[in-house]
Amino acid sequence: MRKNIVAGNWKMNNDLSQTESLLNDLKKETNTGNAEVIVAPTFVNLYPAFENLKGTDIIVAAQNMHQNTNGAYTGEISASMLRSVGVTTVILGHSERRAYFHESDELLAQKVNTALENDMRVIFCFGEELADRKGGTHEKVVESQLSNALFHLDSDQWKNIVLAYEPVWAIGTGETASPEQAQDMHAFIREVVKNKYNASTAEDVTILYGGSVKPTNAQEIFSKPDVDGGLIGGASLKATDFFQIVNAF
Ligand code: PGA
Repeated sequence: MRKNIVAGNWKMNNDLSQTESLLNDLKKETNTGNAEVIVAPTFVNLYPAFENLKGTDIIVAAQNMHQNTNGAYTGEISASMLRSVGVTTVILGHSERRAYFHESDELLAQKVNTALENDMRVIFCFGEELADRKGGTHEKVVESQLSNALFHLDSDQWKNIVLAYEPVWAIGTGETASPEQAQDMHAFIREVVKNKYNASTAEDVTILYGGSVKPTNAQEIFSKPDVDGGLIGGASLKATDFFQIVNAF
């Protein structure tokens, strides 16, 4: 059975004291218990976040990770380093990583492998750009992103994969996919996974929607049968907004 997840991607926001204060605010909120809650602070604040949230149900995730296990890669962070500070979930393939840091499907396939080899859970992001949507190629684009980065895995490995469909045109723009557009794409993704693997792999994988999810639209989006939660950027930076989204299920 797949679970509902609401994950906050803080991106390059919040220094240490802002991180502590947002986490303290988050701990005052009530989770009605229908969704797992994840927060992804920046690398330097992962360990303080892990320590701060000990004894709560809120899970700490990283926003990225290097594909190699160790070595001369100045400035990079490995899977085992993340694990050593209590982090076992990592976001990979975010559209900002793809656009600004030139992360390709092939590179992401390597990162996914490394994460899974280190017993980490991957929140794998993908989604089409506006031109793809306008040109009607959005399904093709999404299918190839999935197949290039994930379809070498065996079905058992999918237990540690969470998908996050994030149309690039909806990220940080205030423009959201309609609940119907999200549902259509999520159903399509499940069909693609089913055709590649089997019905139970497709049914069991959690598929999050991301792109301008807010307290005002979360409930309608999450009410769709194939939408199992959200990856939240801007609205995850305020505890009350984030928990309104968490409790939208
Ligand atoms: P947004 O970001 O909610 O600010 O649109 C979503 C994301 O980038 O994951």
